[in-house]
Amino acid sequence: MTKMKIAGTGSFLPELVVTNQMMTRIVDTSDEWITTRTGISERRLSSGEPTWFMAAEAARKALAEARLEPAQLDIIMVTTCTPDYYLPSAACIVQAELGAERAFCFDLNAACTGFVYALDMAARYLLDPQIHNILIVASENISKLVDYSDRSTCVLFGDGASAVVCSRGTDEDPSALLATKLGSEGRTGHVLVSRALKVRHPFLADGAVWPDRFGEHSDHTLTMEGQEVFKFAVRVLADSVLEAAAQAGVNLTELRYIIPHQANARIVEAAARRMKANPAQIISRIADFGNTSSASIPICLDELVRAGKLLRGEKVAICGFGAGLTYGAAIFIY
Ligand code: COA
Repeated sequence: MTKMKIAGTGSFLPELVVTNQMMTRIVDTSDEWITTRTGISERRLSSGEPTWFMAAEAARKALAEARLEPAQLDIIMVTTCTPDYYLPSAACIVQAELGAERAFCFDLNAACTGFVYALDMAARYLLDPQIHNILIVASENISKLVDYSDRSTCVLFGDGASAVVCSRGTDEDPSALLATKLGSEGRTGHVLVSRALKVRHPFLADGAVWPDRFGEHSDHTLTMEGQEVFKFAVRVLADSVLEAAAQAGVNLTELRYIIPHQANARIVEAAARRMKANPAQIISRIADFGNTSSASIPICLDELVRAGKLLRGEKVAICGFGAGLTYGAAIFIY
């Protein structure tokens, strides 16, 4: 257990709403197919707002909520698999935007599981007496990777960002991170892929070809074996929550909420059944936002906090999965 308090949350969602009906104009699909197979009705897409911009907007709201000045931040972590630059990191851009001069900054890429990994990392950093406040921002313009001629993937994703400030907890407040269970299964990485740049320089021999690690990809567009991801997701979401709960000595019935990564309503329902959770505990906001990758869990968390539906002292489980393949769960007292 680490005395860690989520001191503030904030999100940024682009204004552009793309409905299922609008999707039918670009691919052979229907509102009925998308809704019944995924639970998604609409998603937000960037109108050009870069990942760093969305991150900084969400971060400002989380800092205001935490009543902290940027100068009080010790660390800024941005979880993203869709940065605007290979370098500098999105976290350093956010630092400059906020004027958080004291912080050290880095990006973390665990794809859609990024936020869960970051929360675990923040708790570990807070064991260091020199670290007091950590900003985690999950910001994703996943639309940059999506092939909008592929109906099996393009209907799933949306853009957005969300941030939390994690501060050292005091003895007076109940907040704590109780347990985490993280994992990766790199051997099945081929089921969800987006390729980066290939080696190219003036000294490359003519015809020098190194095959792509995951089959030929002409560019960065995302490819996915949907059913394989589906099966993986149901297994790891349920099992990681159960493992984290056992580690924390917490019965699932004690959890106020379970917030899963929002990828497909059917995945969430099947995972809830596998872990024998009460459906009333499960948060599903997929209908309005689609899959916003690592931002999906903190967007849900922020909504609950702002709506006054999550109170100090209540226990929450979050669980994610994504490319890598990666997965993870965390149980905390808000
Ligand atoms: N509209 C209409 N039909 C579609 C469609 C769409 N948007 N997308 C796929 N189809 C079709 C397929 O072409 C297929 O047609 P066929 O039977 O003629 O070949 C049929 O629907 C069934 O496809 P299938 O892939 O079996 O559907 P599914 O029930 O597995 O649903 C996903 C597909 C992608 C929604 C589902 O597998 C899924 O959500 N997987 C997990 C994806 C995920 O979470 N990714 C992100 C991880 S972070």
